[in-house]
Amino acid sequence: MAKAAAANVKDVKKEIEELREKLGYHEYRYYVLDEPEISDAAYDRLMERLKELEAAHPELVTPDSPTVRVGGAPREGFQTERHGRPMLSLDNAFSYDALREWDRRVREGSGKEKIEYIAEHKFDGLSISLQYEDGVLVRGVTRGDGTTGEDVTPNVKTIRSVPLRVDAAALKKAKLRADFEVRGEVMMTRKAFEELNRQQERIGGKIFANPRNAAAGAVRVLDPKITASRKLDFFAYYLLVDGKVRFAKHSEALEALKQLRFRASDDWKLCNGIQEVIVYCEEWDAKREKLPYEIDGVVIKVNSTAIQNELGYTAKAPRWAIAFKYPARQETTVVKDIVVNVGRTGALTPVAILEPVQVGGVTVSRSTLHNMDEIERLGLQIGDKVLIERAGEVIPHVLKVVKPGKDRRPFRMPKTCPECGSAIHHVEGEVAYRCVNAACPAKRKESILHFASRHAMDIDGLGEKIVDQLVDKGLVKDVADLYSIKEEQVAVLERMAEKSAKNLLEEIEASKKQPLARVIYALGIQFVGERTAQLLAEHFSSLEELADAKEEELEQVPEVGPKVAASIVEFFSEPANRQLIKKLAKAGVQPKAEKREVKSDKFAGKTFVFTGTLANRTREDAGAIVVEHGGQVSGSVSKKTNYVVVGQDPGSKYDKAKELGVTILSEGEFEKLVGRK
Ligand code: IVH
Repeated sequence: MAKAAAANVKDVKKEIEELREKLGYHEYRYYVLDEPEISDAAYDRLMERLKELEAAHPELVTPDSPTVRVGGAPREGFQTERHGRPMLSLDNAFSYDALREWDRRVREGSGKEKIEYIAEHKFDGLSISLQYEDGVLVRGVTRGDGTTGEDVTPNVKTIRSVPLRVDAAALKKAKLRADFEVRGEVMMTRKAFEELNRQQERIGGKIFANPRNAAAGAVRVLDPKITASRKLDFFAYYLLVDGKVRFAKHSEALEALKQLRFRASDDWKLCNGIQEVIVYCEEWDAKREKLPYEIDGVVIKVNSTAIQNELGYTAKAPRWAIAFKYPARQETTVVKDIVVNVGRTGALTPVAILEPVQVGGVTVSRSTLHNMDEIERLGLQIGDKVLIERAGEVIPHVLKVVKPGKDRRPFRMPKTCPECGSAIHHVEGEVAYRCVNAACPAKRKESILHFASRHAMDIDGLGEKIVDQLVDKGLVKDVADLYSIKEEQVAVLERMAEKSAKNLLEEIEASKKQPLARVIYALGIQFVGERTAQLLAEHFSSLEELADAKEEELEQVPEVGPKVAASIVEFFSEPANRQLIKKLAKAGVQPKAEKREVKSDKFAGKTFVFTGTLANRTREDAGAIVVEHGGQVSGSVSKKTNYVVVGQDPGSKYDKAKELGVTILSEGEFEKLVGRK
């Protein structure tokens, strides 16, 4: 008996080890390389299995298990930790002249005529030191004052791009010992940041001024579960062993970081002399808006470690590195008025109308104020002079009042909806003010725009101008009406040529085939974002099944708590919403379960678009094959499309694919790819 039990424990241990290894690898594919090999559902299954085994065998739980990613119990306070080697800051250069001047000092100090530099992105986040012992992450410490920082280990462990351990083979490849330190920046992508603020707006939570503040706030909280929910990233840029750089060149350290499966930027460049550095800075100034995260400058480092050591440090910063800072995208202007915008949930959002001002090359004339609490926090009144910031493509944000206006007057929430005149509801103690009239046209417009948006039904061409007209003319009362509009009705709308009317109807038609997850997300149920919709779609086999689910059943779905469950139940308890589902089904939007049989993951992360008539099967069937192999089908071609499969008489998607240089497949080539021929 005892022997059998021991053997069993051995098997379990082996399975646990294998699961950790697999999860580690798939986290790396997903969070570091952005190239997942398996579906989210398959990943979740592995994680669930590991949790199950660990729950049954608590003695086998280790601090580097991927299960720590979900965040443990909150702590009482932070311990401070002394850095083995101080985490210095960098000197700044605000002009190319200042860079040339620095280069001159570097050349003088080293006696070299031309210096090899590494130029890399200056990530705008929170710097963190990660300490590994025996290949396992043992400590994560904030920069703090540079000498001592806060121990935030449980929090950084929730960041998926932070490896919890590195394997021996990778260490060997990188020629490193198993004890080392990695420094880098914890960041939040713009998308995660915008999503977070939208969510905070809804629940009346703290609004963050920029992704940096949001990331810093998420790391420095006592409850790691909060960190886990904030979708943070970690970018590594410095590697130390015993407080020293072990490589002859910084570029080698960057390569080693990648081998160790850290996320390090791919965009660094080796520059010969300062002129090449300046070109790099210029190039990225033009391109940085397109990055998924924010950079506030370029860090330039002397590549040779020997020269770095020769140059040494001042009390504050290394002499061998400098930060070139892009001009801040901040400007002062006057708040001329504050108006309110009615969102699809009926929530009223105050918006500042600004004296138009140029911020980083873009004219800004509006800025969201999120909610009443934010206006109070800013102490803002109409007529005040304010400092605004435009962070990338994010909607500009008021940072503070710089000078109260002479004739300033306070803003008050209207008592009636500016769109439909119904009374505005405000629950004492809650932040949101709402128009609860289900027929309010503003809500209708917003919900249609959300339904059509790229991550929902992806109906290209259904923008604000068109939706305004469709609603105002009474052609569309709810999203299901979209499926019954006629080409001639659309063609007469302003800004609509015949060709685009045809395209729009094609787009609408194609959207009927969107998978269940997208349709759930498209309904715009409060608190049901893309990820929750995906998880729901993996649990329920149809909209009807979801609509009938009780709170207890909803809470069985991973990541769905009482708040989300209640919101879903409330949504479907509204007869108009029930009716909507029926109407959608009748129109042909009847997505079925994604509890599909997955035959392989060979198309994981790949998006296909079909155009024209296929000879061997319908487009739907071809799409199903893609999905069976883990891929996605989209109705429109973008840079993100991987393949466009072209049948007979292809439409404009074919031209778009050629224009964007997307791989084009004939039907035969597609069949070969899936292995049918
Ligand atoms: S290297 C001794 N590289 O900027 C060299 N720092 O303003 C240490 N930062 O404290 C820093 N991106 O938090 C380095 N690619 C990068 C960086 C970077 C962002 C941060 C870091 C540093 C601050 C200085």
